[in-house]
Amino acid sequence: MSKQFDVIVIGAGPGGYIAAIRAAQLGMQVACIDAWTNDKGGPALGGTCTNVGCIPSKALLQSSEHFEHATKHFAEHGISTGKVTMDVATMIGRKDQVVKQNNDGILYLFKKNKVSFFHGRGSFVKPVEGGYEIAVKGAADETLVGKQVIVATGSNARALPGVDFDEVNILSNDGALQIGAVPKTLGVIGSGVIGLEMGSVWRRLGADVTVLEGLPTFLGAVDEQIAKEAKKAFDKQGLKVELGVKIGEIKSSKKGVSVAYTDAKGEAQTLAVDKLIVSIGRVPNTVGLNPEAVGLQLDERGAIVVDADCKTNLPGVWAVGDVVRGPMLAHKAEEEGVAVAERMAGQHGHVNFNTIPWVIYTSPEIAWVGRTEQQLKEQGVKYKAGSFPFLANGRARALGDTTGMVKFLADAATDEILGVHIVGPMASELIAEAVVAMEFKASAEDIARICHAHPSLSEATKEAALAVDKRTLNF
Ligand code: FAD
Ligand code: NAI
Repeated sequence: MSKQFDVIVIGAGPGGYIAAIRAAQLGMQVACIDAWTNDKGGPALGGTCTNVGCIPSKALLQSSEHFEHATKHFAEHGISTGKVTMDVATMIGRKDQVVKQNNDGILYLFKKNKVSFFHGRGSFVKPVEGGYEIAVKGAADETLVGKQVIVATGSNARALPGVDFDEVNILSNDGALQIGAVPKTLGVIGSGVIGLEMGSVWRRLGADVTVLEGLPTFLGAVDEQIAKEAKKAFDKQGLKVELGVKIGEIKSSKKGVSVAYTDAKGEAQTLAVDKLIVSIGRVPNTVGLNPEAVGLQLDERGAIVVDADCKTNLPGVWAVGDVVRGPMLAHKAEEEGVAVAERMAGQHGHVNFNTIPWVIYTSPEIAWVGRTEQQLKEQGVKYKAGSFPFLANGRARALGDTTGMVKFLADAATDEILGVHIVGPMASELIAEAVVAMEFKASAEDIARICHAHPSLSEATKEAALAVDKRTLNF
């Protein structure tokens, strides 16, 4: 006898688990199926984000940043220590604990919201009267029927053609978060978000890191001025980034990995490293979902085809998060999950793709929302720009971190904020004000007229807004 639900959610990453909770809050009977298994064979809810993505990477970034402060910056504050050492096993153990707290937290939230959880792999079986039959293969096999289905099966790391991840020498994000000892030399292919974050972790701990990037520009999606400022900071830290390379043969042996490549000048080079992280983007994941059984449409990249409301080609089947178009970000997945649950309940779910913030958690952090200066130029939009350096911000000086700036782009005629770009301390937190402002269609003057606490980094935001009108007070 199959178990009946109003909604079956396949995948308990940020897209799926949030959709399940919101649907339950709205009075639906909800099941959520997730296959992720911890090292004891139990469930590990939270998907890529919690297990091998956002959360563990930030835990390691924090540990490595403490290490760098202790070894390089404590002395400026008059603090002396003995020889500072890093016990990598403890750092990884702490990261695993942080992950587990998040796994357990989601299980608790499911209980609290009466979401029925099934640990196993979910797959479409067939359409049935008033819904879809879904099989769960796991600790116990189950057959479920849902009136509606939300697919939130996420993404997997993209491998270089013919170069499989062995997670010992050639690492995806998974292996990059598990390295057992600081490698002397680390290669990274791809200077995107993962490459820069994971490269920073292991550089801070003492690895000699070289990042090989295929494109000729550094962080092409980031505002050019901000990317340039970030690159200067990374160069100073000794994070080597080579742009415009073409990767050739990769050989892995007990001794390490050798990467043959052609550099930007067209010359043949070889990089020999102890470990290699390949972070060249991610691919949507529908492994084991059996979309053919119901005729669920995928595109040529393997993503589930959805419209602006996350509806697939099948009535009552929705898809959210990394498995569909759009940026592969946890908060984008969550917003889509909430919006779909609300649409199912007859409400007007809302996701504003123009105000999704991006953050790269390096040091300095890079964060932005809205359009870049190069995009506005390409689109022929008339704009005003204003920026303010952290060098002139009292709190940043007190913190001892004056790298970077806040930059505003506003419409030349209406002063509406079109983009905000930050490189510098706590950019990840500062960007929230810009997101709120843009969501409410604020002008730069609106921010300039708001009282910001002193001394705070957020005063740099206010001053950058003032700079749009060429009237900064502290620079
Ligand atoms: P996922 O989180 O991938 O979850 C999908 C879940 O579905 C998984 O648990 C999977 O096991 C399960 N599943 C798949 N198929 C089935 C099936 N057939 N049956 C049952 N279960 C199934 N984003 C940010 O916004 N901020 C960050 O700081 C950030 N850092 C990141 C760092 C790294 C190293 C990586 C790799 C990613 C990072 N991301 C970050 C991206 C973020 O992790 C993803 O955008 C997010 O996890 C997508 O959520 P999702 O719910 O769509 O999919
Ligand atoms: P990415 O798309 O950010 O960067 C991939 C980089 O690899 C690009 O610069 C690309 O030009 C380069 N590249 C691709 N093929 C190449 C090749 N053959 N040779 C050399 N370079 C090549 O992808 P990444 O870093 O793998 O991360 C995947 C996604 O995960 C991100 O796009 C983001 O959505 C998410 N993520 C988000 C984080 C955050 O929000 N802080 C942190 C980490 C990941």
